[in-house]
Amino acid sequence: MTYECILTAVHGDGPRKTALITLNRPKALNALNDQLMDELGEALLAFDADDGIGCIVLTGSERAFAAGADIPTMLPHTFATAFKSGLISKNWETILQVRKPVIAAVAGFALGGGCELAMMCDFIIAADSAKFGQPEIKLGIVPGAGGTQRLPRAVGKSKAMDMLLTARMMGAEEAERGGLVSRVVPADKLIEEALAAAETINGFSGPSVMLIKELVNLAYQGPLTDGVAVERRYFHALFGSHDQREGMEAFLAKRAPTFQHR
Ligand code: CAA
Repeated sequence: MTYECILTAVHGDGPRKTALITLNRPKALNALNDQLMDELGEALLAFDADDGIGCIVLTGSERAFAAGADIPTMLPHTFATAFKSGLISKNWETILQVRKPVIAAVAGFALGGGCELAMMCDFIIAADSAKFGQPEIKLGIVPGAGGTQRLPRAVGKSKAMDMLLTARMMGAEEAERGGLVSRVVPADKLIEEALAAAETINGFSGPSVMLIKELVNLAYQGPLTDGVAVERRYFHALFGSHDQREGMEAFLAKRAPTFQHR
């Protein structure tokens, strides 16, 4: 299969190997557009169905895991088009169907949808260069892929509110202290460490690996889906606001936005 927005490779020499998926829209800091999310979903499901694969590692570039949803393609949406087209809903959560472990290996920016995508993985290994954030408030919107729901579960209410309301980024060390990431490694060792973790998991019994994933998710998720559903409606609804258009136009014009709080 040939992809344009992602790269895929298979690593390891044991009976169960590791699939490495690399987000690859470097000019846009791996901003997550429909094509990328479609390709990512297809690759994830194909590797999940492949008996020779034990784990999947998802990564980006040195500069960015992903800088969020693609702002230029979101800008023109209205509430009706966002809602009717299933913006985010239609292709962002394929990753949650994957039954094998998915490890996020994050270097550089993991912002907005990029942070949310990393949080949809089973655990996050961060390079010391990683920066996590939910800057949607600067665009006059709210997160739409679980940021207001998963971030508080990962780092607690206070840190989550701070990040979501002020749009400040969290470095790798703070993210590890807060519980968002499982370990921090030197940037030049990121892929090696993630592949080594995957290799360890690949050595364990496939069904117990998959069951542990299912059981941890059972403990973790609870009413999460209700929260994400409500979040999604407000995400769609904000495409009816002045400040969404202003925030996104200002970003693309590289000027400060003038919000009117409506
Ligand atoms: N969508 C599309 N393009 C993006 C992008 C995004 N989310 N983020 C960055 N880019 C593009 C920039 O427009 C720029 O393109 P040009 O060179 O053509 O101008 C290129 O990537 C490099 O970006 P910068 O020049 O801005 O690089 P920088 O180092 O000065 O800043 C940054 C890096 C802090 C990540 C900055 O680009 C930034 O703030 N990006 C936006 C982050 C953001 O708001 N993410 C949330 C998006 S909304 C969302 O994700 C909703 C959701 O919950 C699903």
